Amino acid sequence: MISHLYAHIPFCPKVCPYCSFYKEASDRNKTQAFLDAMLKESELHAGRLRPVTIFFGGGTPTALSTPQLQYLIGGLRQRIDFSAVEEFTIEMNPATVSLEKAAALRALGVNRVSMGVQSWDPGLLETLGRVHSAAQARRSYEILREAGFDNVNLDLMFGIPGQTLAQWRESLIQTIALQPDHISAYCLTYEEDTEYFVRMTRGEYRPDETLDAGLFEVTMELLGAAGFEQYEISNYARSGRECRHNLAYWLGSDYLGLGPSAFSTLQNERWKNVSDTSEFIRRIASGEGAADFREALDADTRKVEQIAFALRTNRGVPTSLLPTDKAAQLVAGGLLREESGRSYLTQRGKMLADAVAEDVI
Ligand SMILES: C[S@@+](CC[C@H](N)C(=O)[O-])C[C@H]1O[C@@H](n2cnc3c(N)ncnc32)[C@H](O)[C@@H]1O
Ligand code: SF4
Repeated sequence: MISHLYAHIPFCPKVCPYCSFYKEASDRNKTQAFLDAMLKESELHAGRLRPVTIFFGGGTPTALSTPQLQYLIGGLRQRIDFSAVEEFTIEMNPATVSLEKAAALRALGVNRVSMGVQSWDPGLLETLGRVHSAAQARRSYEILREAGFDNVNLDLMFGIPGQTLAQWRESLIQTIALQPDHISAYCLTYEEDTEYFVRMTRGEYRPDETLDAGLFEVTMELLGAAGFEQYEISNYARSGRECRHNLAYWLGSDYLGLGPSAFSTLQNERWKNVSDTSEFIRRIASGEGAADFREALDADTRKVEQIAFALRTNRGVPTSLLPTDKAAQLVAGGLLREESGRSYLTQRGKMLADAVAEDVI
């Protein structure tokens, strides 16, 4: 049985210039056909699905209207056994939150929200091309609490062009003051096929690794002092509020992804659905599979991936799985810490996590 279900909703109120997730601006003519395709795709897998965690990501799932969300989640409930669900997360953009929608989502069984705030600084929100103001993000957060959500994540980004250490510190302080249950703090990456990447290649934006390291250090320091546990490089939670769905990915569980661009990993197979909403709808309607990429995963590949992901978490990895000489070198270099047969990244190791992972796998 598959315990983790992801659904990709590829619509956004407006496309942000730094983002490479598969998405498009909301298109009313396509939405109903998309919802029906999602339900039909879910039927193909219903027999082997009994989700414990569900994650609606995107894009922006709440770019869908309340009736559309009711149609989709209600439809999935009719097709899939929801009786084991413990965590049901939905991603939101602050511009797409209303009390009516939040209450309807609670009634549909959604019990965790992840909202993209990115920054509380008006100038930086503009640099990011966000559709919402800081005041709107604050109001949306209050609405979520009013609607009864007691498990809320806020996404923040650092390393934004022009962002200073003082501005980032202020964004962290304002976020902590709201007392969310979870904070994701991502270092901006210049992804190919984004406007930001083009600007970087033109020299308009200049990534600054030294500043980024300082911003990351301040993140760990302030969030740690405020009682958040850094349970993964970019993710901080109050006790018992880790995202169980994401932990399942990082610790190597199987999962099924519905919708355009969604990945699935089941035992010795991984596939990715086509990253094109119209083509996804067409393929599902005509009875073809939606996957346009498949790979076989042997036990070694899965093991290597699991080490790389688990090392980024506070669970660490059994030292016996790491090459002895490399592990010793990394411990001597202050990047790894060994305790009771497990290896963990040190604070410095977390800053160089990708390089450490490459070294040990
Ligand atoms: C699917 S979005 C979250 C929900 C919603 N679409 C929104 O933006 O408010 C997931 C998160 O990824 C992060 N993100 C997107 N592009 C990124 C990039 N290029 N570098 C770092 N983080 C990025 C943002 O923090 C964003 O909130
Ligand atoms: S950051 Fe969020 S709202 Fe912006 S384009 Fe990406 S998925 Fe859409």
